[in-house]
Amino acid sequence: MKLKWQMMNSKQKYALFSAGSLLFIFMILAAFTYIHPLSVQWDKAVAYTRASLHKYVPMTGEDVQNIRQMMTADPSTSRTIMWESVIPEEEALIEYRQVGQPQDAIETAKAKRKTFTDDGVSRYEYEVTLTGLSKNTEYQYRIGAGDKRSQWMPFKTAGIGDFTAIIFPDSQSANYKGWAELVKTAWAQNPQAAFFANMGDLVDNGEMASQWNAWFSATEDMNKVIPFAGVMGNHETYTLDWKVRPPKAYLNLFSFPSNGYKQYQNQFYSFDYNGVHFVALDTQAEEETNEPQLLTDEVAWLKKDLASTKMKWKVVLMHKDVFQYAFANQPGRDNSFSPIGKLFMPIFDEYKVDLVLSAHLHTYRRRGHVKNFKRDASGPSYILTGVAGDVRYVGLWADHPLDIKKSPYYNEANYLVLKKANDALIISAYRPDGTLFDSETITQGL
Ligand SMILES: [Fe+2]
Repeated sequence: MKLKWQMMNSKQKYALFSAGSLLFIFMILAAFTYIHPLSVQWDKAVAYTRASLHKYVPMTGEDVQNIRQMMTADPSTSRTIMWESVIPEEEALIEYRQVGQPQDAIETAKAKRKTFTDDGVSRYEYEVTLTGLSKNTEYQYRIGAGDKRSQWMPFKTAGIGDFTAIIFPDSQSANYKGWAELVKTAWAQNPQAAFFANMGDLVDNGEMASQWNAWFSATEDMNKVIPFAGVMGNHETYTLDWKVRPPKAYLNLFSFPSNGYKQYQNQFYSFDYNGVHFVALDTQAEEETNEPQLLTDEVAWLKKDLASTKMKWKVVLMHKDVFQYAFANQPGRDNSFSPIGKLFMPIFDEYKVDLVLSAHLHTYRRRGHVKNFKRDASGPSYILTGVAGDVRYVGLWADHPLDIKKSPYYNEANYLVLKKANDALIISAYRPDGTLFDSETITQGL
């Protein structure tokens, strides 16, 4: 090489030097062009890695259990999430993000913690209400405490458009296996459901911790994805020795909208879902003897609530039925209307409620439209929702003159699906295997 360079004349040396210089400058420019964006990407990659591959410890069943989304007054902009742990966590939180946003666009909300002891069992209860959410939007959330994190789970906000909700009648049971199977079928058949409701008497004994755990165990797969709208029943007020007490467990285990009156928090409330105003009532005045003003206060609230809603549709959820059924094989009761019905039905007439769902009698009856205690197409439609647990009152009730349809499967559980579609409310009833046995379409403008 040395020889060759020495053999070159000055012209050849100059040409080779120039070419080498140009190649060097080109390589510098190319390297800068390549390295600059790479360095930016590298910074981002480090940030993503920190966010998504942080060495979190997966949560176990002791760290997080009984996860439940709760209905809020406006589920288009907010969502309450509750859960429990066996050992108290100091800094529990929810992390959440919109689906489709960068992986590191995570927001954090701190949880409130309380200890609830009942039936000799202490539960560490956590609660977060996420607010300022976007309408009609899919999110993901996970539960955290210290360096522990749960799996990501989905939730979706309400907004506009048609939707489906699953309605379960009384789930109180001696053995909650059947309830768990019913929930599994209803959820599998309706994976698009926006929320679910349970019509009261969630458990047979409101003080028994094992029954609440059985209820949560059956609903958790569904309830960590969609919110729960609860209705309180009389069995929520029963003590271990079958006396009545304030429904302590129900009121502590669930947080519902606080748009009722403060002293009756979680007993009655309302919420809006895509153009439908739902009201959940407390019909347990007979058991809640510590609240002598309950019905008077509730009626005053209900009138105000129904008068102020701008939603096109109004649906009432209540545990005790508005009808009174005679016994099929013994005297003692007439086919008529219950004291609860006599109190509330004129209010439903006045404020043009579209649909009233009730429970308590463990039989499915569709009674059609009733106004002023008579058949009238302009009145609300009344459905007694049936039974979802294993406590069956086979053949107990006579037929009521206003009954249009009763379930022929009198010794089976059932669930209902409420659908808002094509400017109508469609309420359908299903057997435990998911087959349809009754349906009613409610329209307005009659
Ligand atoms: Fe009941």
